[in-house]
Amino acid sequence: MNARVLVTGAGGLLGGALCQELATLGLLVTAGIRSAPAPTGFPTARYDLERPETASPALAASRAEVVIHCAALADADACERDPGRARSLNVEATEALAEACARAGARLAFVSTDLVFGAESDPGLRSEDYPARPLSAYGRTKLAAEGIALRVRGNAVFRVALVTGRGHGPRGSATEAVAWALGAGRPLRLFDDQYRTPVDPRSLARLFASWAAGAHDGLFHAGGPERVSRLELGRRVATTLGLPVERIAAVGQDDVPAIAARPKQAAMDSGRARRLFGWEPEPLLAAIRAGRSSTASGA
Ligand SMILES: NC(=O)c1ccc[n+]([C@@H]2O[C@H](COP(=O)([O-])OP(=O)(O)OC[C@H]3O[C@@H](n4cnc5c(N)ncnc54)[C@H](OP(=O)(O)O)[C@@H]3O)[C@@H](O)[C@H]2O)c1
Repeated sequence: MNARVLVTGAGGLLGGALCQELATLGLLVTAGIRSAPAPTGFPTARYDLERPETASPALAASRAEVVIHCAALADADACERDPGRARSLNVEATEALAEACARAGARLAFVSTDLVFGAESDPGLRSEDYPARPLSAYGRTKLAAEGIALRVRGNAVFRVALVTGRGHGPRGSATEAVAWALGAGRPLRLFDDQYRTPVDPRSLARLFASWAAGAHDGLFHAGGPERVSRLELGRRVATTLGLPVERIAAVGQDDVPAIAARPKQAAMDSGRARRLFGWEPEPLLAAIRAGRSSTASGA
């Protein structure tokens, strides 16, 4: 039988896209929302990270067997400005949700980030046993929440890389944002020294669906098939979509003042997910093509 899944943060860029992709794979999705709308056509359950008591009713309403926890204060700069709020929304709320899931007999997948990595400059791909030394409040709160989610057997943590492809809502994915800016005639400055392994929601949905159907738990890296700099990613978007690549300028991360520090080397080795689930994330080219051409199209 197809798993019943509650996706928290279903009004967000990744959560909304996951709802659609998981439903396409046959899962029975309930969209956990606070204020922003989920994609149309899904049953919804109210869930507020600031009100931990909303977790159990959302689980009961969805009768979820698995929960994919996307809701978060996901803006690294906002976390840096208000680390107390970041801790409350990203750590304490995850703890309350994990407890509610354990009581309800639901397995939890916590959506973490590649920004848990630190300042190490070696360019190798980071596997799950590579030390995580977050440089920002965002990374520290996500890392703390990982440990909480993994206290319960059956739960999983997925460290998701930079999200590309077709997102949900008014904000573009990393590739959509480039396409929208260049399409509107805006020049871009992109980092030539920040390396990631971008991944798209459709590939992630296949990974989450495999996890939901199986018995594997623990920590998984969930990055795409290629290690690229933000500059290279932007150039690929431009060349793939026929947009003016000459409007993209290279810039070093240290040359741009930032509120939250980010690792330059955050590309991940996702071999564990590939081995245990037979996971094959889509090529970057397919993710770029899948993106929306503007906010209005399918937001
Ligand atoms: N985007 C990426 O490149 C990326 C990469 C790695 C990991 N991630 C992780 O993926 C997850 C989703 O990120 P995203 O990019 O989709 O972020 P997003 O677009 O900002 O979505 C965040 C979601 O969290 C919800 N949320 C925020 N505060 C809440 C609260 N108090 N109660 C309930 N829900 C609340 C938001 O609901 P409202 O819309 O109603 O405010 C929204 O649905 C996050 O856990 C993030 O750390 C994202």
